[in-house]
Amino acid sequence: MTGGAGYIGSHTVLQLTDQGYDVVVVDDLSRGYKDAVDPKLLRVLDIHDTAGLVRVFEEKPCDAVIHFAAFIAVGESMRLPEIYFANNVAGSLSLFTAMVKTGVKHAVFSSTAAVYGMPKTSPISEDLPYAPINPYGESKAMTERILNWFDRIHELRSVCLRYFNASGADPDGRAGERHDPETHLIPLLLRAVKTGEPVNVFGDDYPTPDGTCIRDYIHVTDLAQAHILAVEALLKGAPSKKFNVGTGKGFSVREVIQSVERVTGQKVPYVISPRREGDPPELVADSGRLQKTLGWSPQFPDLDQIVATAWNFALK
Ligand SMILES: NC(=O)c1ccc[n+]([C@@H]2O[C@H](COP(=O)([O-])OP(=O)(O)OC[C@H]3O[C@@H](n4cnc5c(N)ncnc54)[C@H](O)[C@@H]3O)[C@@H](O)[C@H]2O)c1
Repeated sequence: MTGGAGYIGSHTVLQLTDQGYDVVVVDDLSRGYKDAVDPKLLRVLDIHDTAGLVRVFEEKPCDAVIHFAAFIAVGESMRLPEIYFANNVAGSLSLFTAMVKTGVKHAVFSSTAAVYGMPKTSPISEDLPYAPINPYGESKAMTERILNWFDRIHELRSVCLRYFNASGADPDGRAGERHDPETHLIPLLLRAVKTGEPVNVFGDDYPTPDGTCIRDYIHVTDLAQAHILAVEALLKGAPSKKFNVGTGKGFSVREVIQSVERVTGQKVPYVISPRREGDPPELVADSGRLQKTLGWSPQFPDLDQIVATAWNFALK
């Protein structure tokens, strides 16, 4: 696995080891945390180091790679596109090259709803065309296309999982979300509750029932499980495929604030700020393909449950 010291990766390591899988984590710790992974599993390495990756695969032959390592902040990608293309595209290419060199033929790739840009329809199906509106989304679309060619030419089979809003924390409190800077709504709302510093709500004049943006929040443990099902399908010979990973239910920013207030028993201090450029009013997944093809279903579809796991981690 790459990027296993990060938020989603560290939760997936827990799920994999809980289910008896043997895991090696490659992470350069540029944005992750050493203490998020069992030190016995961690190899500190930048995925640009193709020869280093080849050595890891030779020392520890593996059946599949789950590729999380990337930079993930949309706003940063609008200021520094070069580091997004270098890390997310060239880094991925280095990884896939090392896989081909060592005969590792299965990959699960962390893609994103950002490949769809500002879709006009909701819920979003995988059949919509690529239309990213920022370098982050573009970097993921480019990597998906590289995987299409590696499938055709090198028979490297892959599942691209296009996540919607990953959220929540390990239900047993062993891991949680730690981005720096944090840009995701639930941890920002929880921080506002803890510090009393108001959080910005970007826009309340969208064409949605309460005027705030609607997103599809998927619990990180459910997301992790989708990766395991994807690996298992690939190992059984499934063809390459792309799937949305979301619950299919959207919540507005105001609804998330209300959920945080129910769970914490405290008021969320917030201010309404102008809209951010490039925020679609609504992003909700049609995850029917994932449910039908991989037999996935969310175990934590309830927003209060998601928030409660995140709050439990934030209190530690
Ligand atoms: N968090 C979300 O809501 C979300 C939504 C859609 C897609 N994704 C994708 O999921 C993946 C994981 O996201 P996350 O929230 O866990 O992010 P994260 O920043 O917490 O984790 C990313 C990890 O990758 C590592 N990394 C980055 N560049 C590396 C490199 N060159 N070599 C080795 N390691 C490197 C970082 O150190 C970090 O541990 C990313 O690919 C992201 O684009 C996340």
